[in-house]
Amino acid sequence: MPTADQLKALVRSFCDKDDAQFFAIALQMAAAEARKGHHELAGELKALIDKGKVHSASFISSRNPISIVTPRGELADLLNVSHPETRLSEMILTKELCKRIERIISEQRQINKLKGHNLYPRQKLLLTGAPGCGKTMTASVLAGELRLPLMVVRLEGLITKYLGESASKLRLIFDAIEKTRAVYLFDEFDSIGFERGSGLDVGEIRRILNSFLTFMEYQAGNSLLVAATNCAQNLDSALFRRFDDLLEFEKPQSQLIIETFKRRLCLVPGKENLDFKKIALEAKGMSFAEIIKTCDEAIKEMILGDKTEINTGNLVKALRERRAFLKGRE
Ligand SMILES: Nc1ncnc2c1ncn2[C@@H]1O[C@H](COP(=O)(O)OP(=O)(O)O)[C@@H](O)[C@H]1O
Ligand SMILES: [Mg+2]
Repeated sequence: MPTADQLKALVRSFCDKDDAQFFAIALQMAAAEARKGHHELAGELKALIDKGKVHSASFISSRNPISIVTPRGELADLLNVSHPETRLSEMILTKELCKRIERIISEQRQINKLKGHNLYPRQKLLLTGAPGCGKTMTASVLAGELRLPLMVVRLEGLITKYLGESASKLRLIFDAIEKTRAVYLFDEFDSIGFERGSGLDVGEIRRILNSFLTFMEYQAGNSLLVAATNCAQNLDSALFRRFDDLLEFEKPQSQLIIETFKRRLCLVPGKENLDFKKIALEAKGMSFAEIIKTCDEAIKEMILGDKTEINTGNLVKALRERRAFLKGRE
C-alpha cells in the first residue's frame, strides 16, 4: 500500500496540475510495490504511467495553441512572444541555484494554494551575472516549465522610439502583465535601470525608471516579471528592494565545466578517452555559452577533418583559439 504521505502528495500534484510531480510520485509508488515483490502490480502501474506521460505530452502540445497570446496594436511593437519548451533539466546549475529556480516554479505551480492563504508566489525576479551563464535561458525555462508564453519586452523600442511617451508605453506593458499570465522578460535591464544620479540617466531614461519603480510597487497579476542584467552594479538600489528574488548566475567552476563538456559531447565518439581535468583547466573562466561554442568548433573540425574520434588535443586547441578570440574583443 502507498504511504499516507505519498497519497496526499499524489492528490496534491493532481490538483496543482503538476504532471511531472504526479508521475514522479506514481513511479515511486510503483518502485515501492516492486520492492515488496508485487511485480505484476508494479509493472501495470509503470505501463499506466508511461501511457499517461504520452497523453500528457500531447495534451501539452495540443493545449499550446489555445494559450497562444498575440499582442495587438501598440503592444505588438513592445513585446516579442514565443512559446519555449525549454526544461530545467537542460540547464547546468549549482545545487543552490537549481533549488532556488525549483522553488520559484513550485510556488508558481501552487499559486492558488498560496493565494488561498493571502500569500503571493515569488513573481518579480532579478537575474544578474556574466553573459552566457543562463539568464535568458532561465526565463525560457520558467515559461517552458510553467507552460506560459514568454513575452520579451523590447526595451530599445521603449526608450528610443517613444521619446516622451515612454510612461504610457510602460503602462501598456504593465497592464498586459496584470491581465495576461505569462513570463515577461526585461532583458539587458540595465539600459533602463541605471543608477539615478550616475550621470547616465538623462531625461527619458530617468522618466522610464521612475515609472518602472511605481509600477513595480503593484502585484503583477499572476505573471512573472523577470529582469536580467549583466551589470548589476549599475542598477538603482531602489529597484533591488522591489524584487522578490535575486538570482546570481556565475561562470562555471571545474565540476560544472566538466559537466558542460560531458553533456555537449555525450554523442561524440572518443569522448570516453578525454582528459576532462586538463580540458577543464583550459576552459577556466569561460561561460557556459563559450564552452558550448568551443565544443561545437572541435566537433566541426573533427567532422571536416574526416576524423572518427574527438581527442583532448582537439579540444585544447579549440579552447585556446576561443580564448585568443575573446581576448581580442576585450
Ligand atoms: N547554465 C547553463 N546551462 C546550460 N546551458 C547554458 C547555461 N548558460 C548558458 N547556456 C547556453 O548558452 C546560451 C546562452 O545563454 P543565455 O541564457 O543567453 O546567457 P545570458 O542571458 O546569461 O547572457 C544558452 O542558450 C545555452 O545554450
Ligand atoms: Mg541574455
